[in-house]
Formats: sequence, structure tokens, C-alpha cells
Amino acid sequence: MVLLLAGSPAIAETADGALLAGACQGCHGVSGEGGHGIPSIRQMHDRQQFVALMRAFRANERPNTVMGRISRGYTDAEIAALAAHFAKPQ
Ligand code: HEC
Repeated sequence: MVLLLAGSPAIAETADGALLAGACQGCHGVSGEGGHGIPSIRQMHDRQQFVALMRAFRANERPNTVMGRISRGYTDAEIAALAAHFAKPQ
């Protein structure tokens, strides 16, 4: 248990996109392909657009059902890591 807890801050510090992506894959699919009413996030946006979308959800400036709540769980560094994982390079 102690080891598990000790591991958590390391995830946030390194902002490992592949690891963080695990929280998105249940809805957006293993590679972000979407389906069943969930939009694809796989290479759909460039990184800047992806970050802008996540920030807009976080600020409740973009209509959403679940992404407002979800996006509020991520720091800017984590969102950048998720963008590097799911989005196209510039
Ligand atoms: C509970 C299911 C669920 C999870 C988990 C989830 N999403 Fe979403 N996502 C959605 C839905 C549904 C939408 C459409 C907007 C809405 O209704 O909230 C969406 C929309 C998006 C969009 C905007 C796509 C577009 O082109 O408009 C992005 C970017 C996104 N999600 C990223 C993520 C990331 C990154 C994660 C993981 C941190 C994640 N989502 C986790 C369900 C989910």
C-alpha cells in the first residue's frame, strides 16, 4: 500500500501521457478512436487544439456532458502529455 501511494506523485510529475490515457480509453477507445456516441480523439486535432479543447471543458466554456468534470482532474502539464499522446504534432 505504501508503495502504491508513493508511486502516485511520480505519475503527476512526469505526466506520462500513455499512463494518463488509461483514464480516457474506457470511453474513447484504446487508441482514442471513439464510437458509440463518443467522439474520436485519435489524431483528430493538433496538440494546440487538443489543449484548447481540454481547457475549454475545464473552464466550462464548451458544452459537455462529462468532459467538464473529467478535464478538471488534470493539470496543464498532464493535458499537454495527453495531447502528445492522442493528438497530431503541429
Ligand atoms: C465517461 C466517458 C469519457 C471519458 C472517461 C473521457 N471522455 Fe472525452 N469525451 C466524452 C464525451 C461524451 C465527449 C463529448 C463532450 C461531452 O459530452 O462531454 C468527449 C469529448 C472529448 C474531447 C473533445 C472532442 C471533440 O472533437 O470535440 C476531447 C479532446 C476529449 N474528450 C478528451 C478526453 C481525454 C483526454 C480523456 C481522458 C483524460 C477523456 N476525454 C475521457 C466522454 C469521455
